Amino acid sequence: MDDMPLHRLSFDEIDERRNPRPAEQDFDRVVARAMSRRGFMGVLAFGSAAAALGIGPLLTSTAAQAQTTSRFPFTPIGISTDFDIHVPEGYAWKPVARWGDALFSDAPAFDPAKGTTTEGQARAFGENTDGMELFVIDGRQVIAVNHEYVNLDVNLPGNPDGLPLSAEDVLKLQNAQGISVMEVAEGPDGWAIVVDSPLNRRITNNTPMTLTGPAAGHDLLKTPADPTGTQVLGTLNNCGAGRTPWGTYLTCEENFNGYFGSTDAALALPEAFSRYGIEVEGGYGYEKFDARFDLSKNINEPNRFGYVVEINPADPASVPVKHTALGRFKHENAELTLAADGRVVVYLGDDERGEFLYRWVSAAPYVEGGDTSRLLEDGQLYVAVFADDMTGKWVALTPEATGMTPAEIAIHTRMAGSKVGATTMDRPEWVAVNPIAVEAYCALTNNTNRGVKPNAGGDATPVGGPNPREKNGFGQIVRWRPTGEDHAAETFTWDLFVMAGNPSVHEGPFAGSANVNVGNMFNSPDGMSFDSTGLLWIQTDGDDSNEGDFAGQGNNQMLIGDPVSGQIERFLTGPNGSEVTGLLWSADRKTAFVGIQHPGGSWPDGTGLPRSTVIAVWRTDGALIG
Ligand code: FEO
Ligand code: CA
Ligand code: CA
Repeated sequence: MDDMPLHRLSFDEIDERRNPRPAEQDFDRVVARAMSRRGFMGVLAFGSAAAALGIGPLLTSTAAQAQTTSRFPFTPIGISTDFDIHVPEGYAWKPVARWGDALFSDAPAFDPAKGTTTEGQARAFGENTDGMELFVIDGRQVIAVNHEYVNLDVNLPGNPDGLPLSAEDVLKLQNAQGISVMEVAEGPDGWAIVVDSPLNRRITNNTPMTLTGPAAGHDLLKTPADPTGTQVLGTLNNCGAGRTPWGTYLTCEENFNGYFGSTDAALALPEAFSRYGIEVEGGYGYEKFDARFDLSKNINEPNRFGYVVEINPADPASVPVKHTALGRFKHENAELTLAADGRVVVYLGDDERGEFLYRWVSAAPYVEGGDTSRLLEDGQLYVAVFADDMTGKWVALTPEATGMTPAEIAIHTRMAGSKVGATTMDRPEWVAVNPIAVEAYCALTNNTNRGVKPNAGGDATPVGGPNPREKNGFGQIVRWRPTGEDHAAETFTWDLFVMAGNPSVHEGPFAGSANVNVGNMFNSPDGMSFDSTGLLWIQTDGDDSNEGDFAGQGNNQMLIGDPVSGQIERFLTGPNGSEVTGLLWSADRKTAFVGIQHPGGSWPDGTGLPRSTVIAVWRTDGALIG
């Protein structure tokens, strides 16, 4: 791995190279603690080990309460290892929007061998589909969907290693990312993009947007092109999403660090950059041809990314807004709900090994039809602290608690979390709030550094609490219930809804929790959404080698979990190489839209380049699908 160029590495591998495992040092005591716990767990069946460690009472009690009748209206499917989609009997699927499909009729036709053109990328559906949400606007169904990053070889298939060789190449990559806003409609051949809809829009790495909140105008956000520190071009690495009750889309900037590099390899970087993984060696080569991404010319540009961005899908001319009050980190998604008194609560994960889980609570309540413009600007950001006794608390990131100014908290949120002793987590991915019970779930996808080394800020990552397994390659889903059934409460109780594992390979904790078996096993839960009936749809982004620890788990997949019984069953499997990510339902709930990111082979066309695609899934009997 040490010899591999950065763009060939996963985000975790880049992190590993930039923050290598330490030599023997005082972190040893943490490892020793982890090892003793691991040994302890290893000799016990999971249930009793979990009880002994205090991580299982709610989990095991819910599993024990398994209902005699399943709430799942489908026959679970087995794993797959092929380059196709599989759904249960009685369900069907078809592509709706593939990378390169036109949003506007002036977009050139997709070339199976070469993809699309630089200009065409900005007029067509982008690559690497991820989080998405549906909006009904004047009777039109509009999907806003993220395009997280680019597969270089696929976008620049003629270039060595797929790396850009010109400013034009960089622009082509930039145009393939960002967000698509597109009207969809159901016709005789099923769901399709409404080409040239007046609501269609492409937002890219270069679309002008505004910065708001405590960091807006701060010196660290000022650049030669924007001396005000309030205007920024583009949004980067749009991962998960969110939807406000007032009808706007939230897109979350995740691994923004990889877009920056320095043409001066000797450039000294600010100390804060190391916490965010910003280095002189860039991942995409943007810095060679676009000075905005060259740290030697624009040292503050990375401080303008890593935020939650609000987009109004009803107005294609609207300027997107980056809300710095919600913090700067590697945002996964933004899950909104309302507190008992109507204040807006947003749950936010920071997806990196050993980083934190956050919550925003607005100062004012949401009032339908009222002024919503300050609800993501005026309020309080909190970070989660979990205790081993299955309680937890939200700690406010205030100047008093952190010794930092509000702007510093907004820009260097990770450091603020460290100052108040936030719990280092196993990579918080999506948070989902149950619509029929006052509880929330967060996918902790995996963390091979758990119990091995600290996070990039030096915070220890001891085994315990909701992160109970050393070198955790499988992941788990933590669930919390706020005190007094109020999402604005300062405290909560928690349990693990599931610990993924492989009972055909392991005994003990890596066999998984009681609701994991050889028929439903998976690794690396990531995307999650609740359907209207209160079932939790779980998407995976894990190891699909079907070997070793992951033997028998097949391709990435989508499962459905019952929060009451703990039962989990497999509903869909993706093509080999792909991640299943992004989920929403049509307004009549007869169709589920599912994202398939970075498929392998030549999926879905069967020839030429693979294409990230949003598919429609429906019941052939026309009944509701969630
Ligand atoms: Fe973009 Fe953490 O997934
Ligand atoms: Ca994800
Ligand atoms: Ca992931």
